[in-house]
Amino acid sequence: MTRAQQFQDHLFTELAFRARHLSPLRRLYRQMLSDCLGEQFSFHASPGLHANMTWHYATSPPTLAAFHRCLTDSDLGESLSIVHGDSRLLAACFVVVEGDTPVLDYHVDYGQAEIPAGVTGTMLTPLIAFEPPFGHLDCRDGTRDFEYRYKVGDAILFDGKFEHRSQAAGSVANQARVLVSWSIATEDTRYSFAIKRVIDSQMPPLD
Ligand SMILES: [Fe+2]
Repeated sequence: MTRAQQFQDHLFTELAFRARHLSPLRRLYRQMLSDCLGEQFSFHASPGLHANMTWHYATSPPTLAAFHRCLTDSDLGESLSIVHGDSRLLAACFVVVEGDTPVLDYHVDYGQAEIPAGVTGTMLTPLIAFEPPFGHLDCRDGTRDFEYRYKVGDAILFDGKFEHRSQAAGSVANQARVLVSWSIATEDTRYSFAIKRVIDSQMPPLD
């Protein structure tokens, strides 16, 4: 079964890539933390699904381009063709958890009725090694529950209708749990308005 078929049939698939392609994003993350981003780079911090979770969204075209380059330079670029045949990167962020978090509720990323299955995707991969006590991802494939374990060099790509939740996570002093998240969607105009509304609710427009 191809990844595109698996994505269509099961609403998720997995991709592997060379971890060295994360280096530019690791550098960007460090620069963001130490407030020394280059002039053209910017992020917006939005509250995540828990008080200890923050979504740092790329808010300038060069910043989003850095996340896009990570796809096109590595095998993660396949994600753009897996989602609806030909999609584009709409948004990207670092999902940062600092401190303990409980098991969160199951949810889907694009629940709106106007957005069918097969036209949106979220891809997640850890920016830095994911070790205990960091929690992983609980997933629901129809009626089957399973655990997806984050590993550097592996990514999960799931549909906007795929049910998932973050597992409970413990914290490590001076160490954040960081995922890279890419929001991928079709450019099909039948869905683009509703999709954009979801993205806009999470981040300000690009500069
Ligand atoms: Fe989600």
